[in-house]
Amino acid sequence: MSMDGVLRLYFGESNLPTPDYIKQAATKALADGYTFYTENAGLPSLRRAIARHYQNWHRVDLDPESEIVITASGVQALNVSLRCMLDPGDEALVLTPAWPNGSSIIAMANAITRQIPHPLCGDRYRVDFDALEAAAGPRTRLVLYTSPSNPLGWVATEEEQQRLLDFCRTRGLWLLADEVYDRLYYSGPRLGEPVPSILRKATRGDAVAVVHSFSKSYCMTGWRVGWLVARRDLGVKATQLNEFIISHAPTFAQKAGETALECGEPELALMLARLKENRDFCLAALRQMPGVTVPSPDGAFYLFPKIDGLTDSFEFCRRLLMETKVGLAPGVAFGTGGEGSVRICYAADRSILEPAMERLEKFLRTR
Ligand SMILES: Cc1ncc(COP(=O)(O)O)c(C=O)c1O
Repeated sequence: MSMDGVLRLYFGESNLPTPDYIKQAATKALADGYTFYTENAGLPSLRRAIARHYQNWHRVDLDPESEIVITASGVQALNVSLRCMLDPGDEALVLTPAWPNGSSIIAMANAITRQIPHPLCGDRYRVDFDALEAAAGPRTRLVLYTSPSNPLGWVATEEEQQRLLDFCRTRGLWLLADEVYDRLYYSGPRLGEPVPSILRKATRGDAVAVVHSFSKSYCMTGWRVGWLVARRDLGVKATQLNEFIISHAPTFAQKAGETALECGEPELALMLARLKENRDFCLAALRQMPGVTVPSPDGAFYLFPKIDGLTDSFEFCRRLLMETKVGLAPGVAFGTGGEGSVRICYAADRSILEPAMERLEKFLRTR
């Protein structure tokens, strides 16, 4: 972090600042007096805006009163929902490689993570349903998956979603879907259409919860606003629990989030076009490199190339950083199935990606 001149591709965020229209909405909210406490579940107007968003994009009806809880970020939505689902000694099945915070939160709830790695079949990661079956036991309470995935960019197919839902229904488990990257999707009928949410398949009576955030789609990582969609009993509990964790997300930031949902489409479209170009540029560059296998990801803003013979991705990334000043994230950080790969965040300028890819190639050729 303190080294100068590093080409930083290890963070999980865009290098773009929050768009001006969102900053202006926050300034206006402050001027308009949005400086007081809100309900633990968040501003009713923001919950209504989120319900409209699900109606527009997914044709899903949600009750903003009871099925939507505003949280102070995606990670807080994950935290509060896992805390509601797990007792000490319970077990959670987590599809990996995955952003590690889910498993860490499970450990902090004194519960146990069983990692279920995604097998790579040809050019696509899949869900290992046999491994899920084998890992489910009497203390299993939930399945956590992330689609689009950090770090894989994998997107669950409709069939995989349905099978995950059926698996959880049959065993009486919660299905917790992290959909924070749903708008960063490159394989839909049209750039800008979100990945179909699991909420399209589930009924409102299903034990299903979805974690979401303003961070990724609207370049609002530092604002700390997200949301949870959940069956109403969990929504009520999560709202109560919020009181003792954070009470609620910052009021003026919630108001800015409302504007992001209502006015964000044009900026989002520009960002998506740029991300898709970056993805294609990096994919083409990586595919020229010796010993590198990289599946085409359908979503998020990461590439997760596998490097032949790599057994210590941490040491690889450390050496790459020290010798070439390219900063990547070691695959081992993302749990079972991650070792042997590195994560590249391509939400950066071409002026950074181009030299980074050149230096990585040179490094691999002389390794
Ligand atoms: C898969 C996933 N979920 C949730 C988050 C949390 O985002 P935030 O807490 O900024 O809303 C991240 C951030 O990197 C992520 O990658």
